[in-house]
Amino acid sequence: METKEENNQKIENFIKEAYDFPKMSCSQIKHKMCELLNSLTGFEERQSFVRKYSWSIPCKEAIDAIKKHSLDNKITDIMAGSGWWAKNLEDAGMEVSAIDNRIGKNNQFGHQISHFFIEEQDCTTWAKANNQNPVTILMSWPPYEENAAFKCVKMLAAGTIICYIGEEIGGCCGNNSLFNFFENECEKIEKIKIPQFYGMHDYLIIYKKVK
Ligand SMILES: C[S@@+](CC[C@H](N)C(=O)[O-])C[C@H]1O[C@@H](n2cnc3c(N)ncnc32)[C@H](O)[C@@H]1O
Repeated sequence: METKEENNQKIENFIKEAYDFPKMSCSQIKHKMCELLNSLTGFEERQSFVRKYSWSIPCKEAIDAIKKHSLDNKITDIMAGSGWWAKNLEDAGMEVSAIDNRIGKNNQFGHQISHFFIEEQDCTTWAKANNQNPVTILMSWPPYEENAAFKCVKMLAAGTIICYIGEEIGGCCGNNSLFNFFENECEKIEKIKIPQFYGMHDYLIIYKKVK
């Protein structure tokens, strides 16, 4: 049984090493997580990761798939949090913009650190201003039972690529309107495994809006 100090040290090492996760494969990350964290509860590791990085764990396969399916190599993260995904997509050579309606100290989702420039804007306002032509958006862990993600995607032009990261229907992300929209108004292009925290069931799913 490890002491609290030993556990904290393990989490600290995990958070340091996690900086390089976006360049590693999903299985390499899983292996690293086991090596670094085998005696910790999933909850602690997730909390620490969310505060420093993001709600989902970027890996090389996810970054490559987003880049491959994006239109004109451009993407907007519409609920960017700390901007960790945005930073890593830009590092991979994409043209990235990022918005969030609560940045810095106002963010209630644990994101006090910014890895990228994030414009303070509601995603529905952004969608209204960007619905003339198809675009590519990223949404990772849209808040549970909130309607903004659905309102945003509903407004965007047909042909838009939606890189959704989160749990599927019945999980802890978005609401039924969002999942009905994916089911009835989108074509599923690819589903990619990402490293998951203990007890979480999130994936990257890339959709094309067809209606
Ligand atoms: C669960 S966090 C996920 C953050 C980030 N996508 C990630 O994976 O780490 C949800 C984020 O959505 C943002 N958000 C919620 N409603 C929004 C809206 N209407 N417009 C823009 N951002 C919104 C929150 O401020 C928060 O940063």
